[in-house]
Amino acid sequence: MTAATDLDQLAFHLTRPGHGILAADESTGTIEKRFTACGISCSEETRRDYRTLLFTSPRFAEAIAGVILYEETLFQKAADGDPMVRVLERQSVVPGIKVDKGAKPLAGYPGETVTEGLDGLRERLARYHEAGARFTKWRAVIAIAEGLPTSGALEANAEALARYAALAQEQGFVPIVEPEVLMDGDHDIDRCAGVTERTLRAVFAALARHRVRLEAMILKPNMVVDGKKHPRRSPPETVAERTLGVLRRAVPAAVPAVAFLSGGQSPEEATRNLDAMNRLGPHPWRLSFSFARALQEDAMRAWAGRTENVVRAQAAFARRAACNALATQGRYDGADNTSAA
Ligand code: 13P
Repeated sequence: MTAATDLDQLAFHLTRPGHGILAADESTGTIEKRFTACGISCSEETRRDYRTLLFTSPRFAEAIAGVILYEETLFQKAADGDPMVRVLERQSVVPGIKVDKGAKPLAGYPGETVTEGLDGLRERLARYHEAGARFTKWRAVIAIAEGLPTSGALEANAEALARYAALAQEQGFVPIVEPEVLMDGDHDIDRCAGVTERTLRAVFAALARHRVRLEAMILKPNMVVDGKKHPRRSPPETVAERTLGVLRRAVPAAVPAVAFLSGGQSPEEATRNLDAMNRLGPHPWRLSFSFARALQEDAMRAWAGRTENVVRAQAAFARRAACNALATQGRYDGADNTSAA
């Protein structure tokens, strides 16, 4: 094996114990949906104000090591004129960037998608690096339904993820590799386990084919859970055991860290499931978080787009971030026991 590189060290830094990643890279369409559900109007200004609120919440850097930004935010200035990237860098929080262009219908495969964005990616990456981004994210979306996913769709998505990851490393970034098996549907946890394992095996075969350095990447998978419409919600101990079983079989020990997405779990559910996994450690990889909804939900609702709610919203964010920081160490005991509560 070759000697440890700067990228290996960055992958470690982003997921060091007690820390995780905030995904704040919702596309304009996605954040508009979430804002609308909270009665917030969506404009460049409200997106900027909301994200500034998050990035300047108390003790932000104590739990958050990196933030995944949307392109708009990477080049945006906060209300006081400081670039958003500087707001993060001042706190030694590493800026990252979502680089995919979204999941599009896969021709010939009804009901399935492939993530696009490889054309011109090398040139975009160079611009993002110049703007201060140091890690990247690409999300592939895998749906569970009768007869789905097909091997064809799995292979197409794995290939795109691997080509992206190789390019990101070439351009000096730590790639976050995100194959998300969706929670949508009435399938049970066994089905989710089977599909997640198949997906991860395809992804790691493709990463090997494309010579991606496993030591310098972060895997961002779904947790293994029951489908949203399944009547059962398996408890954290079961989710932990099933998720770990799949990871052990499919994820090489050379990968330094797994930073989960929340995928539509409630904030408390996502924290408890992560905590349960870390209680069963040590594991070959560090287990951390890269949540969007499960970190932001309480804060966005508390803010509701009003200046007078900023402090309350920041406290809500700080509390949830602190809960997840404890969960990375298997030390979460319930929301009221965190120091930020
Ligand atoms: P959620 O945690 O809301 O699933 O989002 C994570 C993410 O970055 C999706 O790409």
